[in-house]
Amino acid sequence: MLLKLNVNSEVRTVDAPPDTPLLWVLRDGLDLKGTKYGCGMGICGACTVLVEGKAVRSCMTHAGSVAGQAITTIEGLSANTAHPLQQAWDTLDVPQCGYCQPGQIMAAATLLARTPHPTDADIDAAMSGNLCRCGTYPRIRQAIHHAAEAAHAPALRD
Ligand code: FES
Ligand code: FES
Repeated sequence: MLLKLNVNSEVRTVDAPPDTPLLWVLRDGLDLKGTKYGCGMGICGACTVLVEGKAVRSCMTHAGSVAGQAITTIEGLSANTAHPLQQAWDTLDVPQCGYCQPGQIMAAATLLARTPHPTDADIDAAMSGNLCRCGTYPRIRQAIHHAAEAAHAPALRD
C-alpha cells in the first residue's frame, strides 16, 4: 500500500503495509538512518522522533497511523545542525558511543518546546525514558540547560 508521509517538511511516498513500524519506514524506506533501533519494545527511546512536535517511539508507531502528520527526525530538526540542542551537544561533547543520542536530542526538543526553562527535575522526568548505556546523563542534563539559555539569549547587537 502506498503511504504518504510528511517527513522533515517533505511529502514522501513509501510502499509499505500501514502497520509497518514507522522506524523501519524511516530507516529502510526513506534511508533516514539517524533514528536508531534499540529495543523495539518502547523501552529505550533510541527510536524517538517527533510527530506534530511530540516525542513518539517510532518502533511502536504504525506508519499508517501518522500519515499526513508532521514527522520530524534528527535529520530534519534544523538546517546545518543549527538547533540550540545540537549546538549544545557539540559544545559540551555529550555523546560517547553516540547510539542513543538522536533519540535523546529529539526527546529534549519536545521538552524545551513545552518547558523553555526546565529545572533538573523537569529534565530528569522528561528524559527518564531515554536510556544511555554509556551513562552520559550528566552531560545531557547540562547540555539541555545550555541550549535553554542559548535559545533565550538576547541577540548580539552590532
Ligand atoms: S527502539 Fe523504540 S523504544 Fe527502544
Ligand atoms: S552515548 Fe552510548 S548509548 Fe548513549
